[in-house]
Amino acid sequence: MFSVSERRVSHKKEDSDKVMIFMKEMKNKNTSEYKKVLILYFSMTKQCEKAAEAIADGLRKENRGVVLKKVVPVKEYIFPFKSKLDFFRYSMDSLPWKKIDIKPLDVDTGGFDLIIIGTPTWWLSPSPPIYALLSKENRIYFEGKKVAVFISCRAMWRRDLKIITDRLKSLGAYFIDVIALQHQGKEPKRIISLFAYLFTGEEFKPDFLRGMLYPYGLGEGELEKAEQFGLKMGKLLNK
Ligand SMILES: Cc1cc2nc3c(=O)[nH]c(=O)nc-3n(C[C@H](O)[C@H](O)[C@H](O)COP(=O)(O)O)c2cc1C
Repeated sequence: MFSVSERRVSHKKEDSDKVMIFMKEMKNKNTSEYKKVLILYFSMTKQCEKAAEAIADGLRKENRGVVLKKVVPVKEYIFPFKSKLDFFRYSMDSLPWKKIDIKPLDVDTGGFDLIIIGTPTWWLSPSPPIYALLSKENRIYFEGKKVAVFISCRAMWRRDLKIITDRLKSLGAYFIDVIALQHQGKEPKRIISLFAYLFTGEEFKPDFLRGMLYPYGLGEGELEKAEQFGLKMGKLLNK
C-alpha cells in the first residue's frame, strides 16, 4: 500500500513523465522530424474520398501530419445527378480542349514534405478538376515538390496516370509513386454496374438488372491497399 505522501510522489512522477512525452512530441512537431503530407483529391461518388481517408490513416500511423483538401470545381458536380443529362454535361468537361475553373485551394503547399493527388478516371483521363489543378498557372503549388498519385477507377488508369505524370514533369514536380484502386468484379458486369449506379444513383437498381449488378465502388481489400500505400509513403519520408 502507498502512503499518502508516496502517492503524491508517484503522481508527480507520472505527471512529469507525461510532460516529458508531450515536450518530446512538440519538439518533433517543430522540427524536420515531423513530416507533413497534403492530400489533394477530387471525388464525385465518394470512392476517392474514402481512399484519401484510408491513405491518411496509414500516414498517421507513421506519425505524419496530414491535411486533406478536396479540389472543388466552381460549377460543382452534383451526385446523384439532378437530371440524367448531367452525366453528359459533366462528361463534356473531360474533352481535352475544355478547361474548367476550380475554387482556390487556400493552402500553402510549401509547408508540406509530400503532396498526394487523388482522382477518379473519367474517360481514360484525370477528372476535370484534377486536370485544372495541374495546369501551368498552378506551377507554384508543385514546383520542386515530391508528388504521389492515387487513382480510383472501374479498371482503366494507365492513360490517366501518363497524363498526370507528364503534367507533373512540366510543372517541375517529382513523381514518386502511384496506387490504382479498382472496382470489384469482372466485365461486363462491372461496367454495367457502374452505369446503372451513375444513372440511378442507387445500388442494385434498376430492378430488371438487379441479379447481375455488383455493389458500387471499390473492390474488397482496395481500401486496405490504400492504407498500406499511406504507410509506405509515411515510411518513405524517413529517407
Ligand atoms: C464521367 C465518368 C467517366 C468515367 N470514365 C471511366 C473510364 O474511362 N475508365 C474507368 O475505368 N472508369 C471510369 N469511370 C468510373 C470512375 O473512375 C469510378 O467510378 C471512380 O471510382 C469514381 O470515383 P469517385 O467516387 O471518387 O468520383 C468514369 C466515371 C464517370 C462519372
